[in-house]
Amino acid sequence: MNLNRRKLLSWLGLGWLASLLPSSLVGCSDATTTSQSTTTTAASESVAASPAGTFKSVGKLSQLGKDQPIISGKIAVLRDPKNEAAVLAVSTVCTHKGCDVKWQKSASAFVCPCHDAKFAADGAVLGGPADKPLTKYATKIENGEVFVRA
Ligand code: FES
Repeated sequence: MNLNRRKLLSWLGLGWLASLLPSSLVGCSDATTTSQSTTTTAASESVAASPAGTFKSVGKLSQLGKDQPIISGKIAVLRDPKNEAAVLAVSTVCTHKGCDVKWQKSASAFVCPCHDAKFAADGAVLGGPADKPLTKYATKIENGEVFVRA
């Protein structure tokens, strides 16, 4: 009798383990892998998510209006007001407390909505409370396409 009880408990234990097997297999299925790779693909579309030191396309030069930046993730790209043939790329993260700055055509400046700091197109501080410039990124133009290294 004792041996039968032991066998029964042993079988129940195996049954419990077997019931966990399908959920473990689902965790390794293609469905999970696919959703992870989809997330990775979406993130890699932004310049901010590209590996450091690599140039990533942000769009065509023709997309850049005189005072209209291209926004790619947390990076703004706009024509250099001092050199029409060149482009500038700066972080949109305010150096004061981290709010997202917005380009204001009327002021020709990035303005922070949180505490009203102002930055020039090249990220230089025009007005506080921020005391550090916006982070700048290297840019290049090839065949009419704009690339940023972030
Ligand atoms: Fe931008 Fe304070 S967070 S001015």
